[in-house]
Amino acid sequence: MTAASDSTAEERDAQGPHASPEGRIFEMIAKGIVLSHILDGLCRLVEERTPGVLASILLLDGDRLRHGGAPSLPKAYVDALDGTAIGPTAGSWGTAVYRAQEVIVADVATDPLWADYRELAMPHGLRACWLTPIFASDGAVLATFAMYFREPRCPSPRDQQIVAQITLLASVAIQRKLDEGKLRESEDQRKRAEEALHRAQAELAHVTRLTTLGQLAASIAHEVNQPLAAIVADANASLNWLAAAEPELERVRETLAAIATDGHRAADVIQRIRQLATKTEPRKARLDVDEVVRDVVALVRAEVARYEITLALDSAPSLPSVVGDRVQLQQVVLNLVMNAIEAMVPVTDRPRKLVIRSERHDDGGIRVAVHDTGVGIRASELDRVFGAFFTTKPGGMGMGLSISRSIIEAHDGRLWAVPNAPHGAIFQFSLPGA
Ligand SMILES: Nc1ncnc2c1ncn2[C@@H]1O[C@H](COP(=O)(O)OP(=O)(O)OP(=O)(O)O)[C@@H](O)[C@H]1O
Ligand SMILES: [Mg+2]
Repeated sequence: MTAASDSTAEERDAQGPHASPEGRIFEMIAKGIVLSHILDGLCRLVEERTPGVLASILLLDGDRLRHGGAPSLPKAYVDALDGTAIGPTAGSWGTAVYRAQEVIVADVATDPLWADYRELAMPHGLRACWLTPIFASDGAVLATFAMYFREPRCPSPRDQQIVAQITLLASVAIQRKLDEGKLRESEDQRKRAEEALHRAQAELAHVTRLTTLGQLAASIAHEVNQPLAAIVADANASLNWLAAAEPELERVRETLAAIATDGHRAADVIQRIRQLATKTEPRKARLDVDEVVRDVVALVRAEVARYEITLALDSAPSLPSVVGDRVQLQQVVLNLVMNAIEAMVPVTDRPRKLVIRSERHDDGGIRVAVHDTGVGIRASELDRVFGAFFTTKPGGMGMGLSISRSIIEAHDGRLWAVPNAPHGAIFQFSLPGA
């Protein structure tokens, strides 16, 4: 029996006849049904990323904290915390919920917040504890996320980034669980629950966009530096021509035009990054998918050159426009292109070819396909790769495809993968025409 069907049976058992829907959901969450798999998974993810950390998630149930996920903490400690009341000095976790803000205790042995809990934590060798509240999209605290260490320690920027990602993911997971309960309620509440989920997803998409931009930083710097270097060289040349006994005005004029073009090029790249980095509400408008593709290509050009990949854009003429959120669709194309590049890096015995093809699809819609000649995907994994946290990369989060699929589905489209012949993969999405 699979874990999922197991849990459904358990869930039914957990729904007592008298409990309110919220009560039942809280009960389910408190008992850690299904969600506990997810929360344990989130903790393990953090533990893989950060050597020496022990991660845990406690769920808020009224004014008490309940076990959520803690795959590696000693069981006696986890059991002792289950049911702790929240309050101004209740260890880091209760305080984090009480204050609704992050609480960093670098050394449990000396911090006054831990006065009452030192005896509990120290015998297990727990010395540092960083707590971050997990918020619902309406700002309420849902849970807390904890990172424990066996030596005194303060968070690094990388640790903070991991915390930001994990707390968002946990928020989505917990809210989805809550929303499942609300589904059984009125249409109005269902709508609100859906909106909350969409907001959480948009937030998550934003965080992962920032991560991708971070990975692309060197490439983007190159994209901006190149036109700037050309501008400086052209300006120097122009000064020389002007200084000549007979100034070469025609050449200066041409060079000034080139300077203006390069200036626009650098400004364009910056504008695109700003679009991706700025936190904006999803906004649907009529747009041309080829422009979305070009936006992304401008950001990855240096990356493509660095790995000696040949890139071809193959766009069918007069494609219909689509209705969509430009930034979100850029994120999808960016994820697919980054994956294609990453799949080709290990390939050394054949050309690395990236083709982005856009064409008509079904009645009035479009399809964009990203072809690569990379390592490819086994037939049995063609669908699994879209699952959250599925990754085969040491530094991967396994979120790119799962977020991309939810974006495309929110646009009434489809995203799927097929093998490329003779090598590599094709990831493609279709969208209805505007
Ligand atoms: N073009 C591709 N060729 C081969 N395998 C791929 C390709 N695209 C995705 N995959 C596989 O699917 C997995 C999941 O991809 P996904 O983009 O969701 O996560 P990731 O790239 O591992 O991490 P990140 O969250 O940083 O994007 C990858 O780890 C890889 O194994
Ligand atoms: Mg990826």
